[in-house]
Amino acid sequence: MSLSTPISSTTAAGAPRPGGAAPLAGRPVSRVGYGAMQLERLSADRSAAVGVLRRAVELGVDHVDTAQFYGDGFVNGVVAEALRPEDGVVVVSKVGADPDPGGPFPMRAAQRPEELRASVEDNLRSLGLEQVPLVNLRRMDGRHHIPVAPDQVVDLDDQLAAMVAMRDEGLVGAIGLSSVSHDDLRRALPAGIACVQNDYSLVARDDEAMLELCAAEGIAWVPFFPLGSAFPGMPKVTDEQAVQDAARALGVTPAQVGLAWLLHHASNVLLIPGTASVEHLEDNVAVGDVVLDDATIAALDAVPPRAGRIF
Ligand SMILES: NC(=O)c1ccc[n+]([C@@H]2O[C@H](COP(=O)([O-])OP(=O)(O)OC[C@H]3O[C@@H](n4cnc5c(N)ncnc54)[C@H](OP(=O)(O)O)[C@@H]3O)[C@@H](O)[C@H]2O)c1
Repeated sequence: MSLSTPISSTTAAGAPRPGGAAPLAGRPVSRVGYGAMQLERLSADRSAAVGVLRRAVELGVDHVDTAQFYGDGFVNGVVAEALRPEDGVVVVSKVGADPDPGGPFPMRAAQRPEELRASVEDNLRSLGLEQVPLVNLRRMDGRHHIPVAPDQVVDLDDQLAAMVAMRDEGLVGAIGLSSVSHDDLRRALPAGIACVQNDYSLVARDDEAMLELCAAEGIAWVPFFPLGSAFPGMPKVTDEQAVQDAARALGVTPAQVGLAWLLHHASNVLLIPGTASVEHLEDNVAVGDVVLDDATIAALDAVPPRAGRIF
């Protein structure tokens, strides 16, 4: 499916698509999706976590990002419980790291080809699926990465061979990349790449050339940390004066301005903002209706990049 293929204006659940639709892994999805990582914070209130996802589906979200290492399987369990086949949601997971609840970080690198396969199998079990529609290969050489042992520095081609084999076997519907460089993306193109998930937002725009390459190749650009993340010390989109000025002028929130800028920036952008709050989820879905005029876009485009790393 090309980026220009006409696609349905409602989801399988019958909701209008927030932000319109764009292709992901050969299927139409709403341009405003949902990143489930923040649901980790609701581990003591599972029904609230399920409720956030049910509300997302009601509001027209049909693209949900998750990982086995979000809450050591808790988030995948919530996704399995909340989403029904008839919702038609494209569930996207990632491999390249495994849960490590007792370790110094909640996850540890698991980059070797056999670990990628084991990780896909874990996701299939916890998500209750026969195929994960899209799996991102999460590399450990991007801006944010946990420390890796020498045996975790694995050649991209070896990893892609493992991913392609799993796609051929039907365990994985499509392959994406996460935390990759421009060179990695170019090397991976012959394998058939459905999306790139890198750290990108109004305040983190190092990967502009990669976004453009994705647009040219019909690959979805799915920025993680679209608001600058929940991690303390990371630059936040909502702290920017230009964002706050635009929000005041438009009568919307600063977070909505940051997300609307992403939607306006390129047609292959799909949003997966993370939230544990139904109120914020509703705000995020509503950004599909926020119109930014040329002067506002110019003011937002002029915001300088702000460096930040988690680890
Ligand atoms: N591929 C990768 O390596 C990778 C890495 C990190 C994340 N991800 C994915 O990307 C998704 C998005 O990243 P993220 O969740 O880390 O960061 P984010 O979406 O940039 O920001 C999340 C933070 O913004 C707040 N927020 C969300 N909507 C808001 C609104 N409307 N108004 C005010 N605050 C709002 C959330 O708090 P509340 O909960 O209080 O709303 C949370 O503190 C994740 O959920 C995950 O699925 C992928």
